[in-house]
Amino acid sequence: MQPIQLIKKYFSKNSANVTVLDIGARDGEIAKKLAEFGYEVTAIDKDDFSKDFKNTQVTFLQTSFEEYEPSQNFDIVIAKNVLPFMQKEMLDKVLTTGNFIIFNLWGKGHEWANFNNSFDQSEITQFKDSISKTFKIHYFADEKFATKSYKNEPVFWHQYTFCIEKVL
Ligand SMILES: C[S@@+](CC[C@H](N)C(=O)[O-])C[C@H]1O[C@@H](n2cnc3c(N)ncnc32)[C@H](O)[C@@H]1O
Repeated sequence: MQPIQLIKKYFSKNSANVTVLDIGARDGEIAKKLAEFGYEVTAIDKDDFSKDFKNTQVTFLQTSFEEYEPSQNFDIVIAKNVLPFMQKEMLDKVLTTGNFIIFNLWGKGHEWANFNNSFDQSEITQFKDSISKTFKIHYFADEKFATKSYKNEPVFWHQYTFCIEKVL
C-alpha cells in the first residue's frame, strides 16, 4: 500500500492543522498531493528540488535527514524508499520525529541494498518486538518481487513496509 492510501485508511483525523514531514521527498509527488488535501507539509531532501515546490503550499528544505533538526514533532512522517540510503541509526530518529509513521526498509539480497542498511527477517522481528509497546502497527507488508535493473538484468527486490502509530 502507498503512503496516501495508508493515511486514508489508518489516520483517524481529517487534514486540518495536521503536520506532515516527507523525508527524501524528491520532486514532491506525495508531498504535493497531501498539501492539496489540506495537510501542512514540510518536505526535505538532500538534493535541491526547490523548483518543484514553487507555487505549492509545501515547505521544502534542502537538507540531509542526518543534519535536519526538526523544530516540532510532526503528526505524520513519511520516509518512503529513503531509509535504505542511510545508516540504520536513522530509523530511531524517524521514530522520534512523529506520531503516525510510514516507512519502508529493504531486505537483504537487493543489489542496491547490499550495504549494512538492509535488514534480514530476524532483525525485522526484533525491531517489531522492540517497538511493540510504544507503537501500534497498523500495517506491515513483507514483499518480494522481481523487476529489471537499468541494465535490463533481473533484480530481486525485497521490502518491508510499515505504517505505525505512537501509543499515547
Ligand atoms: C528513491 S528516492 C525516493 C523518493 C520518494 N520518497 C519516493 O518514494 O518517490 C530517494 C530520495 O531520497 C533522497 N535522499 C537520500 N538520502 C537522503 C538523506 N540522507 N537525507 C535526505 N534525503 C535523502 C534522495 O535525494 C532521493 O530524492
